[in-house]
Amino acid sequence: MTGDRAPSIVVVGSTMMDMISYLPRLPAAGETLVGERFSLGFGGKGANQAVMARRLGAEVAMVNCLGTDVFGDLTLENFAREGIDVEHVIRAEGSSGIAAIWVEPDGTNRIGIVPGANDAMTPQQAETAVTTSAGVDVVLAQFEVPQPVTAAAFTAASARGVPTVLNPAPAADVLPELLAVTDWLVPNEVEFRHLAGAAGPAEDGRATDEDIRRVAQHLSVRLLVTLGEEGVAICGADGTVTRVGAPAVNAVDTTGAGDAFVGAFAYGLGAGMDEVAAARLGCGCAAASVTLAGTQTSFPAGAALEAARRWAADGPTPSTGFPSPPLRSGR
Ligand code: RIB
Repeated sequence: MTGDRAPSIVVVGSTMMDMISYLPRLPAAGETLVGERFSLGFGGKGANQAVMARRLGAEVAMVNCLGTDVFGDLTLENFAREGIDVEHVIRAEGSSGIAAIWVEPDGTNRIGIVPGANDAMTPQQAETAVTTSAGVDVVLAQFEVPQPVTAAAFTAASARGVPTVLNPAPAADVLPELLAVTDWLVPNEVEFRHLAGAAGPAEDGRATDEDIRRVAQHLSVRLLVTLGEEGVAICGADGTVTRVGAPAVNAVDTTGAGDAFVGAFAYGLGAGMDEVAAARLGCGCAAASVTLAGTQTSFPAGAALEAARRWAADGPTPSTGFPSPPLRSGR
């Protein structure tokens, strides 16, 4: 089934200012290294996923706390430009969240975050947002805001029969009360290993279909594991694991690619697509995002978004015309 209506999505998640340095390699301990470029942009896994879903056409309401600093002002302006509802975004005294990001020449990133105002979110704020929003199709969350906040949002969603999607990033243990009200769990391989613990794959092994099936059963959730350039693996309701490939592209910067996937996947589910169609849309959007630098700045819009949609709709054969610019010199 393919979706044909604009879903309504509530994102209970983080905002960060992304400070991205493009380096020739990682500095060693005690070493100072000269980078090639710097960019300041809008990030935070919650905001990124909200932006991706919105660019696909969803009605998106953000639930978050911003600081009283200039980053908070700029983030509100960014949400207004993207057309995201900020009725449930509150200002909290102090700093907004920030992310220090290092990107290496092959596009690999390393990220350290300081959540700041994100940690001021309350369960009451999240519950009110979910219960008072009209016609919600999906409630989406990550691990960059306190888990009790997300648990309150998901509990309210479950009471309304609204599906919940949790991207457990960055890797952490999940509170039992949150897991109990999570419908879809969407980790990457690192997060999958963390959640799986002893039930998961060996330390250096790739996640097999049996690993994924076992963990989905153990956690009692629908499970989708993102596998970077290899696409995703989805555990069906009957325990069958389906692998969905991603289009091959030249990676410039992988920052936020997982968020492009999750935002698009949530859009697809909310629009009434089946999980494989929604995952293909996610893979198309994530692949497009790694071909450009930055986080939200790299998310597809316009012609790039149409190409990603076409790739997703075309089935397993990679389409021609997928956006894949040549590698920049030295990248
Ligand atoms: O997933 C990428 C995001 O992680 C960045 O935007 C950064 O803000 C961190 O939250």
